[in-house]
Amino acid sequence: MSAAKRNAGYRAAEEVEDGMVVGLGTGSTVFFAMERLGERIAEDGLAIAGVPTSYQAAIRARRYGIPLTSLDEHPELDIAIDGADQIDPALRLIKGRGAALLREKCVCDAAQRAVIVVDGTKMVETLDAPVPVEVLPFAVEAVSRRIAALGADPVLREGVKKDGPVVTDNGNFIVDCSFGTIADPGHLEAEIASIPGALECGLFCAYGKKITVIVGEETGCSVVS
Ligand code: 5RP
Repeated sequence: MSAAKRNAGYRAAEEVEDGMVVGLGTGSTVFFAMERLGERIAEDGLAIAGVPTSYQAAIRARRYGIPLTSLDEHPELDIAIDGADQIDPALRLIKGRGAALLREKCVCDAAQRAVIVVDGTKMVETLDAPVPVEVLPFAVEAVSRRIAALGADPVLREGVKKDGPVVTDNGNFIVDCSFGTIADPGHLEAEIASIPGALECGLFCAYGKKITVIVGEETGCSVVS
């Protein structure tokens, strides 16, 4: 599996050109892209700046020698590279297993192009994974009730030790919402966005036109756009 992730990540890094400002997603696959970008910086003098989507991404970027900037400095990005949890044939995504979905959506929205790196297990005919929702802690119960009324089974995400909620880099909670098969992902994304206190959800349905998916395999990768 990690060979597939590495192949996808390394291929995505080749999409980055000198002078670009690059959105840096969060997750095990995109970290391979960052590793390769670090090599290109060290070996070829590639000059780029990265906008990290999480503290974890920022720490990785520093480790790989990628200079960092911010979305405030660069509200328009040349390209974003990120992972995903599921992708359907219309290039609609579910993201957020890494709890970075809010900043990831800001960065995806700001980018001219989004390159999504996955292994083949993430490609599905119909989205059916739990949809993570970043929720204001003040409103977690109220938001969970509203989401349950949409047909989900919302579960507050807890840390590995189950001793408390996961707190995002923005100080919020994550509620994972299983809807089963999602018949109309765009409509669901809009419904969740209309709930006060639901700050963002992991459905990314509006970006198909600018998304390129790189699907890593054990011995190479394929490109879908
Ligand atoms: C983080 C994400 C990740 O990109 C997604 O969970 C995929 O991660 P991985 O590449 O480790 O499978 O959305 O919020």
